[in-house]
Amino acid sequence: MKKLAAIVLAAGKGTRMKSNLPKVLHGVAGRPMLFYPLDILKGLGASKVVAVVGFGRDEVKAAFPSNGLTFAVQKDQLGTGHAVAIALKHLKNFNGDVLILSGDVPLIRKETVNGLIKLRGRRGPVLSFISTVLDNPSGYGRVVRDKDNSVVRIVEDRDCSPLQKRISEVNSGIYLVDSSFLYANIKRLGRKNAQGEYYLPDLVHLAVSQGLKAAALTHIDPDEVMGINNRIELARADKFMRRRISEALMLNGISILDPDNTYIDYGVKVGHDTVIYPGARLSGSTVLGERCVIEDGSIIVDSSIGDGSIVRGYTVMESAKIGKGVSIGPFARLRPGSRIEEGARVGNFVEVKNTSIGKGSKANHLTYLGDSVIGQGVNIGAGTITCNYDGVKKHRTIIEDGAFIGSDTQLIAPVKVGRNAYVGSGTTVTKDVPPGSLVITRAPEKVVKGWAKRKLKKG
Ligand code: UD1
Ligand code: CA
Repeated sequence: MKKLAAIVLAAGKGTRMKSNLPKVLHGVAGRPMLFYPLDILKGLGASKVVAVVGFGRDEVKAAFPSNGLTFAVQKDQLGTGHAVAIALKHLKNFNGDVLILSGDVPLIRKETVNGLIKLRGRRGPVLSFISTVLDNPSGYGRVVRDKDNSVVRIVEDRDCSPLQKRISEVNSGIYLVDSSFLYANIKRLGRKNAQGEYYLPDLVHLAVSQGLKAAALTHIDPDEVMGINNRIELARADKFMRRRISEALMLNGISILDPDNTYIDYGVKVGHDTVIYPGARLSGSTVLGERCVIEDGSIIVDSSIGDGSIVRGYTVMESAKIGKGVSIGPFARLRPGSRIEEGARVGNFVEVKNTSIGKGSKANHLTYLGDSVIGQGVNIGAGTITCNYDGVKKHRTIIEDGAFIGSDTQLIAPVKVGRNAYVGSGTTVTKDVPPGSLVITRAPEKVVKGWAKRKLKKG
């Protein structure tokens, strides 16, 4: 194989997105769309990867801090040809093939790009590109062929004659170009066209007019080739990418009851025989074990869940670590720093933050546990609240193994409940409770007989 270098075009504002965020940072299945072309390049053995950035370049650079990447800055976006000219300054002594990818074509597959490299082979066309045939080609550059069906040029949508507008074969914006041809011809691009820009696809005609061959790898799945220029296309790309992710998981032994209504980000890992119900959203660095059940409408962000655990409906968790055989929800909220160990249960309307809950412990109903360390085999009654904040600082609550916290308890932190201690229902705990003891704060109960009747008579 020839030596390979790559250029990724990502400098455009994406005017049609109507956004302050650079287009290539808009998300597709949980990653900025520029992530995908860069990810494809990982295994291709490119000696150098140059990303051309311009609009919002600091944001784009910050989103991709990895070392392997060289950033070329295109201050004014004068067109895709101009962007490549700027990138080439970073590829001065390179001799081989230059792969050019578009930052706004995230669905292209690695196999397809490999097909383009294969088409080039040892002595293939000096310029090749990926094309496809679309029912609605509007917006794309059209591939013009001669009567022998050889590629002659690419004409941009806005420069097309009425006849050319009817051509259904379109340019994907992905090219493989011989470096010497590229160096020699990039300066020859003009900007006499509808947009007054230097068009990279004009290289096709430049090659042909010099008697050199340009060719297309064509009839690629139209979904792959889709360029994202507005929010409608963004939503479609997101759907296609998520569909791809779900299908890969299903083929790997994960049940997804309604893939069109399940939102799994790129990179989420799921163990086999896990079942995911409709409306679940799994995002970020989430890792699910085997045989888990994730019920309807649960949102799981950057969390890990051990084998055989169940997350019941409408639970929300972020940066939580859940052990094996745990039951969470329905309607639970686990905030960052929640650590729930094997066999524990966190039930409905329970909020947990920066708290660990030990093996087999239960907090089944209507509770807030914040900044706490809870041991094993602890029972937390309904309505328990750790009062962790004094208006200035956060304080810790410690509940040792085997303790029993009666319902409607307030634990005024910092405070500790010792091993196997009991807290009577309705208690406000302000001092440490020694192991094995009972603590109870309750006003004496007073019964006034006949009071209600007397009250009614008085009116
Ligand atoms: C481009 C192609 C078109 C093709 C389509 C496929 C050109 C002139 N046209 O059109 O033939 O069918 O892609 O999706 O190339 N960019 C820069 N600097 C610039 C301009 C653009 O880096 O000065 C980047 C953009 O950020 C984007 C990519 O190049 O990632 C494509 O630019 P865009 O303006 O979206 O081109 P299209 O009009 O879609
Ligand atoms: Ca585009």
